[in-house]
Amino acid sequence: MRRSAWVCGAGISLVLVAACKDREPPAEYRPTATVKDIMDSIVDPSADVLWDSVVTIVSAAGIEEKRPRTEEEWLTVRRSAVQLIEATNLLLIPGRHVARPGERAEDSKVELGPEEIETLINGDRQAWTNFARGLHDAAVPALKAIDAKNGEGLFDAGGRIDTACENCHLRYWYPPSKQAAAAGRQ
Ligand code: HEC
Repeated sequence: MRRSAWVCGAGISLVLVAACKDREPPAEYRPTATVKDIMDSIVDPSADVLWDSVVTIVSAAGIEEKRPRTEEEWLTVRRSAVQLIEATNLLLIPGRHVARPGERAEDSKVELGPEEIETLINGDRQAWTNFARGLHDAAVPALKAIDAKNGEGLFDAGGRIDTACENCHLRYWYPPSKQAAAAGRQ
């Protein structure tokens, strides 16, 4: 009797250790920045460089197609494409928090708070992985277009990148259900 109680106790504590370990980042990773930081420091600035590099400006003077032209300009957009592509892997590092403790949603009427976002992510890691991969796979054609110095290809990839950002944000950041609830309250 005593012995089986001990075995059971040991069994329970093993399960607890395993459950606790699930929440710790694997030893080889040191996630320091939050998802919010990665958005602000890497994803957003690198995507902006890509989007701003291929624009069509319509004015009284006519239509101006802005495209990277010099080697230097192509190199600049290439660096941003690499940053954007690899940032999608950074988003998948286990144990990374969405925001620092105490950080709140800017507009809590239409945005989920960091804790709600984190619960959503941890409740279905596969969905989060798919959204991050969606951005990865939208950004790879941008790199290919850059290597081929193909301005039109880069423009097209820019549209797909925008959709990949929006798909993830609609799921985790400002879901339509939250916006509808906010509209109903007005
Ligand atoms: C895999 C999901 C995912 C993808 C893909 C994604 N984001 Fe985000 N993004 C988030 C989440 C979650 C937040 C909310 C984090 C927070 O602010 O609490 C966020 C927040 C942001 C923010 C606000 C950051 C801040 O300082 O509050 C910006 C800007 C942003 N994303 C830009 C982008 C852009 C641009 C893209 C595409 C190039 C993109 N994101 C793709 C998940 C994603």
